[in-house]
Amino acid sequence: MKKISDSTVKRLSKYYRSLEHLIEKGVETVSSEELAEMDGITSAQVRKDLSFFGTFGKRGLGYNTRALKDQIAEILGLNRRWNVAIVGAGNIGRALVAYEEFRKQGFDIKLIMDSDPQKIGNEIHGLRIEDVNRAPELIAQERIDIAIIAVPANAAQQVADMLVEAGVKAILNFAPRSLKVPPHVHIKNENMAIEIEALSYHLSNRNRANS
Ligand code: NAI
Repeated sequence: MKKISDSTVKRLSKYYRSLEHLIEKGVETVSSEELAEMDGITSAQVRKDLSFFGTFGKRGLGYNTRALKDQIAEILGLNRRWNVAIVGAGNIGRALVAYEEFRKQGFDIKLIMDSDPQKIGNEIHGLRIEDVNRAPELIAQERIDIAIIAVPANAAQQVADMLVEAGVKAILNFAPRSLKVPPHVHIKNENMAIEIEALSYHLSNRNRANS
């Protein structure tokens, strides 16, 4: 299959969620216009995205919601389960373990690790907090596909290096720091500070425009 851009992948995730919502409501077919409206995207863009992967819909009849959802799930790799490890059992790490939606979407949190001796051995939702020094062994044992970094910024690069060394090829980083990883490792940053700065920028500009 052709390589698709990150922005297309993000839109596919949006369509996937909208389709789930429609299926829950018992809707069997959806037009590109309806999907576009739900996701705030133009219908031409929806048709372009979906035609890229082959012919999903029948002209004039719209798309079958279940068939389209299944096809998108296959493209996004959501038709299988992925094993996830979290490094850092603080506020974020604990919240992620408790987040039920991950499991529903095929992401099983198998491992949570920390360096704090006070935390190691405690449980979060039945999952034991393991010593991060055992990471290489535990990551192999649990066949971890994706790791989430939820440690303070000053420890994040060292944790990323350790994860790469242990063979992890996909990382989601919550620490507000750019991390260096080799090209074969995929990294995504969940940077709330950047998102919130964008909001403050928009509010500041609106205030300037009004003044
Ligand atoms: P926290 O301080 O509650 O938890 C961090 C955990 O990482 C602690 O349990 C600590 O013992 C552990 N840790 C430190 N060094 C480690 C290492 N080398 N290996 C393994 N574990 C280690 O922090 P919190 O609030 O969970 O935040 C985690 C990251 O997410 C931080 O980088 C923070 O800036 C970022 N973040 C936090 C947000 C929040 O609302 N709490 C929002 C956005 C980002």
